[in-house]
Amino acid sequence: MNILVTGGAGYIGSHTCVELLNAGYDIVVVDNLDNSCIKAIDAVKRLTGKDFKFYEYDLLDRENLEKVFAENKIDAVIHFAGLKAVGESTQIPLRYYHNNITGTLILMDLMEKYDVNNIVFSSSATVYGMPKTVPITEDFPLSTTNPYGSTKLMIEQIMTDAQKANSKLSVTLLRYFNPIGAHKSGELGEDPKGIPNNLLPYVAQVAVGKLEKVHVFGNDYPTPDGTGVRDYIHVVDLALGHLKAIEHCSDKSGVHIYNLGTGNGYSVLQIIDAFSKACGKELPYQIDPRRPGDIAECYADATKAKNELGWVAERGIAEMCEDSWRWQSTHPNGFED
Ligand code: NAD
Ligand code: WQD
Repeated sequence: MNILVTGGAGYIGSHTCVELLNAGYDIVVVDNLDNSCIKAIDAVKRLTGKDFKFYEYDLLDRENLEKVFAENKIDAVIHFAGLKAVGESTQIPLRYYHNNITGTLILMDLMEKYDVNNIVFSSSATVYGMPKTVPITEDFPLSTTNPYGSTKLMIEQIMTDAQKANSKLSVTLLRYFNPIGAHKSGELGEDPKGIPNNLLPYVAQVAVGKLEKVHVFGNDYPTPDGTGVRDYIHVVDLALGHLKAIEHCSDKSGVHIYNLGTGNGYSVLQIIDAFSKACGKELPYQIDPRRPGDIAECYADATKAKNELGWVAERGIAEMCEDSWRWQSTHPNGFED
């Protein structure tokens, strides 16, 4: 089976490429390297000992993207490509809507033209907006609080409508919770540009001495220690969820929706503590005001993925932090090192 991976040079995409290749799939990768580095592609090839075609194309460039479909027989698409920074999406919303939505429309149009009928999409727990309770099941009401989240919700709707009009289409919407961690080898990991927005890469950069201290956004939430609780999932477990989705859904037309999370919530202070243990030093932090738009608690009920896909996240929080630390400590400047 030949899988087109859009955004395959990025954090989750590159880890998924490793697992796809290790499982014997053929892949073709498209990425414009807007938020990634060609060295991630080199690392995927090195780690797997396998070669594949990489196209440095933008999904918005229809003419080039069509060449990928014309030159390769594609059986399924895993669509990671997109802009993902919540804060930035409020500053440049039009760029987010154009990149994420127009890019998806062009991709799906070409899929239709070349009779490719399987797509797995990187959705997000952000589509649950401000959930009233936890754990979150797939049938919770959907809403968004920022343009990034709106692109995810709109793309879910677009794909659902496209499926209604084309009964051959299999659409799998994977709603990721908070991916962290890195490949065991320490050769592949998250490499955010500039100061990280997300907790884990921020903590990792404090641990390696690039940032002074962790800013904890609020300790007055209704949670056990007052700090925000999230469902952190190892990026390799997440990657393996995509393989299960391809295995179980690609021959079943329809829209298939799954939460990919562990079902466990950890607070910001628990994460700082777990990372301190992984890196062997106390990490300085200070309590700051809440970050606007944040919710107290967010974690998955991942029973549906377990029952239908046979997928369960296996790696715990200690392993997530150890693997992140291995990558961060050997690559303080990401792929530049
Ligand atoms: P990432 O930025 O590391 O990877 C996305 C990749 O897409 C990058 O390599 C980027 O260069 C590429 N890209 C962006 N726009 C493109 C375009 N127009 N044409 C071609 N390539 C393009 O992000 P990630 O963390 O690996 O996330 C992958 C997907 O998962 C994204 O869609 C993201 O929204 C979604 N997601 C991420 C998280 C998270 O916390 N990391 C959580 C939920 C969902
Ligand atoms: C986690 C917790 C913060 C940074 C985001 C997106 C979501 C999804 C995953 C893409 C919260 C606290 C954070 C810091 C802190 N991405 N925090 N200090 O906000 O749960 O989810 O990434 O789809 O859509 O919104 O992740 O890592 O930013 O925050 O105290 O420097 O850490 O308040 O409680 P979040 P995060």
